Amino acid sequence: MFTGLRKVKQPFELGGYLLPAGTVLVVCYPALSVREDLFPNPERFDPDRFYGKKLPPEVWSPFGVGPHACPGQDLALVVSKTVLATIVRKAELKLAQDEIRPIRNAYYYEPNKGLLVTLEKRL
Ligand code: HEM
Repeated sequence: MFTGLRKVKQPFELGGYLLPAGTVLVVCYPALSVREDLFPNPERFDPDRFYGKKLPPEVWSPFGVGPHACPGQDLALVVSKTVLATIVRKAELKLAQDEIRPIRNAYYYEPNKGLLVTLEKRL
């Protein structure tokens, strides 16, 4: 839901708002991802938003930016891609639920039923 938590040290202006010292700032990607000026058809599931593209960091930085950006991002990406590639290579996944809705879980969103799938071994 939110990431990149920062606390303002000195007052400054951002987007027309004067932020006093002590203000806590966060980036909210769910809110950014439904902005039509950034993504056409914002409600549509569209992996092409990301595939082969480098979006500007103010639009998409899931690992944060700057000196406190996630130091585990390379590891996380290697592990995620390896796990995904291994599953897709060895098995066929089929959706096993009628409806998928995002529900809020604490500070992030997840599929309402945990994304049920059937897994069949690829021949
Ligand atoms: C998909 C996996 C991951 C995601 C999406 C993720 C995302 C993030 C984000 C958004 C931040 C805050 C960045 C900021 O404040 O600008 C962060 C910080 C951090 N992450 Fe990750 N992370 C992931 C995996 C990992 C892994 C695998 C490790 C360690 C092996 C790790 C270690 C850390 C640490 C130590 C920080 C604090 C950095 C600091 O405050 O200086 N993360 N991560």
